[in-house]
Amino acid sequence: MVNKLELAPSILGGDHSMLAESVARISREGLSWVHVDVMDGHFVPNLSFGPGVVAAISKKFPGMFYDVHLMLDNPNLYVKSFADSGASLISIHGEPDYPVAETLDEIHLLGKKSGVVINPDTPVADAAAYFPKVDLVLVMSVQPGFGGQSFNDSALQKIAMLKKMREEMKLGFRIEVDGGITAQNVGAAVAAGADTIVAGTAFFKNPSSLKAAMGI
Ligand code: DX5
Ligand code: ZN
Repeated sequence: MVNKLELAPSILGGDHSMLAESVARISREGLSWVHVDVMDGHFVPNLSFGPGVVAAISKKFPGMFYDVHLMLDNPNLYVKSFADSGASLISIHGEPDYPVAETLDEIHLLGKKSGVVINPDTPVADAAAYFPKVDLVLVMSVQPGFGGQSFNDSALQKIAMLKKMREEMKLGFRIEVDGGITAQNVGAAVAAGADTIVAGTAFFKNPSSLKAAMGI
């Protein structure tokens, strides 16, 4: 495997009245990645966390790696505030109409790692031009917007395709999968080539069985 296997629990799946406890739980499980789902009510039909939340948790738990997934129509207007808030990696979708390549460059100029996200209806090829610019490619295995949905198997082919393209293009980006991950299907995602696993519902329900299924 090119990259070390990481589990990135999504705090969207934890108790929102105790966000600090969700991050503490992730840390107690010996993990460092914290996946933060940011939604604007336009690109996806839901609202979640803003930069203030990232600032508060990253101040309280400075040793964690904040993997911020922006589900916004205009992420270019917000990357600076998330970078200033303590994000470690900022992922943006390629689907909305805004300057995607320039925004990925801006994330690096801000000193952060960058990612591009591929929705279930978006072909992998549509994002390929961005691969040389990113540290991570995120494959959505559900329609973004809500936790607790079922894993869409078509993500497995996309992950395998990305792994092949990464080799052919001689790149090293991480391959992350997000949505409906459980102890039952995580093995298939890893076998296909995913090295970064997002899990909300399954992690907060039973972290040990998910970790055991991943062999971490
Ligand atoms: C969906 C989010 C996911 C979601 C994962 O828009 O991007 O990160 O919270 O949650 P589960 O693991 O419950 O599908
Ligand atoms: Zn996410």
